[in-house]
Amino acid sequence: MKTYAQLTDQISERERRNRQLALEAATEGVVLLENVSILPLRPCRIALFGAGARHTVKGGSGSGEVNVRHTTCVEEGLEQAGFEVLTKSWLQRYDEQWTTGKEQFLSSVRRKLWWPSASVLNDVMSLEYRFPTGDLITESEITDCGTDTCIYVITRQSGEGHDLEDVPGSFRMDSNELHNIRICAARFARFILVVNTGSPIDLSPLDDIQGIGAVIYMSQPGMEAGNALAAILTGAQCPSGKLAVSWPEHYSDIPFSEEFAKDPTKALYKEGIYVGYRYYDSFGIAPRYPFGYGLSYTRFTIDAPAIAMRGSDVHCSVRVSNSGKCAGKHVVQVYVRCPGADREFQRLVAFAKTDSLVPGQSQTLEMSFPIQALSYYNESSAQTLLEAGRYLVCIGTSSRDTDPLATLRMNEAIILCRHRNLCKASAQITELHHSNGLDIPAGLPELTINPADLTTEQPDYSECRETLSRQTQAILDRLSAKDLVKFCAGTGMSGEKNGFRTPGAVGHTTTEYISQGIPNIELCDGPAGVRLEKRAVRYPNGNIRAVDVSLSVYEFFPQFLLRLLVLGNPDKGQMLYQFVTGFPIEAMVAQTWNLPLAERIGRAVSEEMSEYGVTFWLAPAMNIVRNPLCGRNYEYYSEDPLLTGQFAAAVTHGVQATQGNYVTIKHFCANNQETNRFTVSSEVDERALREIYLKAFEMVVKSAHPRSIMAAYNRLNGVYCANSRELCTDLLRGEWGFDGVVMTDWYATDQNRADAALAIRQGVDLVMPGGKKVVKSLWQAYEKGHLTDNDLRRAAGRVLEAIYKFQQSLHSSQMKKT
Ligand code: BGC
Repeated sequence: MKTYAQLTDQISERERRNRQLALEAATEGVVLLENVSILPLRPCRIALFGAGARHTVKGGSGSGEVNVRHTTCVEEGLEQAGFEVLTKSWLQRYDEQWTTGKEQFLSSVRRKLWWPSASVLNDVMSLEYRFPTGDLITESEITDCGTDTCIYVITRQSGEGHDLEDVPGSFRMDSNELHNIRICAARFARFILVVNTGSPIDLSPLDDIQGIGAVIYMSQPGMEAGNALAAILTGAQCPSGKLAVSWPEHYSDIPFSEEFAKDPTKALYKEGIYVGYRYYDSFGIAPRYPFGYGLSYTRFTIDAPAIAMRGSDVHCSVRVSNSGKCAGKHVVQVYVRCPGADREFQRLVAFAKTDSLVPGQSQTLEMSFPIQALSYYNESSAQTLLEAGRYLVCIGTSSRDTDPLATLRMNEAIILCRHRNLCKASAQITELHHSNGLDIPAGLPELTINPADLTTEQPDYSECRETLSRQTQAILDRLSAKDLVKFCAGTGMSGEKNGFRTPGAVGHTTTEYISQGIPNIELCDGPAGVRLEKRAVRYPNGNIRAVDVSLSVYEFFPQFLLRLLVLGNPDKGQMLYQFVTGFPIEAMVAQTWNLPLAERIGRAVSEEMSEYGVTFWLAPAMNIVRNPLCGRNYEYYSEDPLLTGQFAAAVTHGVQATQGNYVTIKHFCANNQETNRFTVSSEVDERALREIYLKAFEMVVKSAHPRSIMAAYNRLNGVYCANSRELCTDLLRGEWGFDGVVMTDWYATDQNRADAALAIRQGVDLVMPGGKKVVKSLWQAYEKGHLTDNDLRRAAGRVLEAIYKFQQSLHSSQMKKT
């Protein structure tokens, strides 16, 4: 097997550079939630407690894990910044409890497992080691510290295959944590709580605790975790992160929260479009921390607001001045309140972030949005419409802190698009409705929207318009149906024993046609970096085996099985190394509200893809955060489609700026819970689908041309996403003009799941991870007439086109590797 993995484990210049970028992103994504004038701190002697102090969680678990050379935990980061940690004995005891607890947990799981098959792997993904909370902190321990400053890091691990629960130790704090926080807050003059989780948790018990000086939402910051936190604590960097999801006061504040993940067959999205701040703001429920919120160490004033129409775009600008005492960045958000019955109170339409401004410095921020962003979807007519009436444009610094800027007047209703009804709900959904009138203050400037600037679209559902390159067409013409089938499925998780290999890749295309000039290509996970194996071994016969496991679920299996099936012996061959960057989780990248930074992360990921020969990156993930318990929230950007769409588009631009490197946006669509993810049907009405759950995908497809998309495991309104023609063809290609590869999620067509042949017929191109059984089933379907020659040509053609473009990029960059 060929590989681009390195023969040395030396730190490269690229590693150092990208690690620096990971630090920058992590620092900018930290959100300061509370600060009673105790931050920033000078490095000093501190008491450091909590699960995340040493066992800092850099990112969630499951396919989104990233294997890095080293993660700087909080303790290490603070020590490097000059803090002296006085609670080593508590931390040491915690370490031992953590390790013993983990061993016990693993052996209890191992007893139940005997073979790591794909389905067993999925079952064990629903298991997660819950970190212990550590010893109760005693009065004497506090007195012995001899300091007035304490940092407590509360941590939750969450991930693929399982959701959090609204119970102590999960979404809620447990009694040990509360005891420890209470005693430390009372006894230390300066107490700082750091929250190291991938999604909001219930912080309401803090209201009954006296003496909390600051609360920092550290999120899951990637490999530079401790250094990022230290930079914020010391004020080396001024916090500028803003929440990308609302934090509820209590779990019960979330609409229909009691129903989340309860019914194994269906999830009724009864809240309709009222997700996140759209719900809280419309129904007058105060979130604990609103969407867009985050404190700073400096102050900003916003003035000189201006607004103008340019064709069908609205342009706003404001001047932001730093009127405080240290340099910092500020985020300005534009929301619009739309007229009409049953509209959300407001929606985010634009935002911008300043550069770092020194005290006294100003910057004018320009923000714009298309009028189409104010539309709504009418299910009965299947139209996207712009209502007649007055729209209120507001500008501010969170969804709960805005000032009216202007009104927009639309004198007549306009149809923006005549769709088809697609993906209609199969179950009756009794939805929430909101009918507050729109209260418009007097005296605001008013702009009139000119209907002549808007056109009515009419999607063409009749055919797929994409054309293949001449070269791909020529290859296609010489392949038989039997050959084509092999391009419509991957070659299994472990791939074939020749061709090119990226150790840690989870997908590979066929190697059978290499002699005919068609190379295999490699698919690897994300989104917080590229998930690869750090160390692998190449045997004299060319086979490559992992030395370290690339997924933590493998830890559940007995060592002898792992050695038999997964791991290689480092003494028997040549060692190979791949060191990648662990960036902050997507949820944290969104908290930077810094799109150019997200694009730079995309470029950095792409550089690592090229270095190790990855063609498809299985990211960005872009499901909407609907409920804080979803285990994969860490992999998603936001509750808001605009923020999600813009971040995913920025990352896509970054990755695809290198020819031959592709993103795979996922999981298409409404994959908002992990419990029963292979079977559950997300029952969403068309309006909520189009305005919330599909919106971000639509934005990315139309603005950033991702080369691939992954159909989700779940059913959408009764139909498996991978078997839905309406989703994978009519909407994606017919309406949005997508011309890349549609692939299934991994094992989405196993027994009692979607059907592989039907998937290809309905518009999927690549069944993943595939393997001989899948190829055989596709061939049998073809022989029985369930798949036509056209189906195979279309699907294989798209895969071959991606391979061809990848190959071209290889030629153009003249890569010569091992
Ligand atoms: C996940 C995907 C991932 C794939 C490959 C699936 O279990 O849902 O997000 O890309 O595995 O690892």
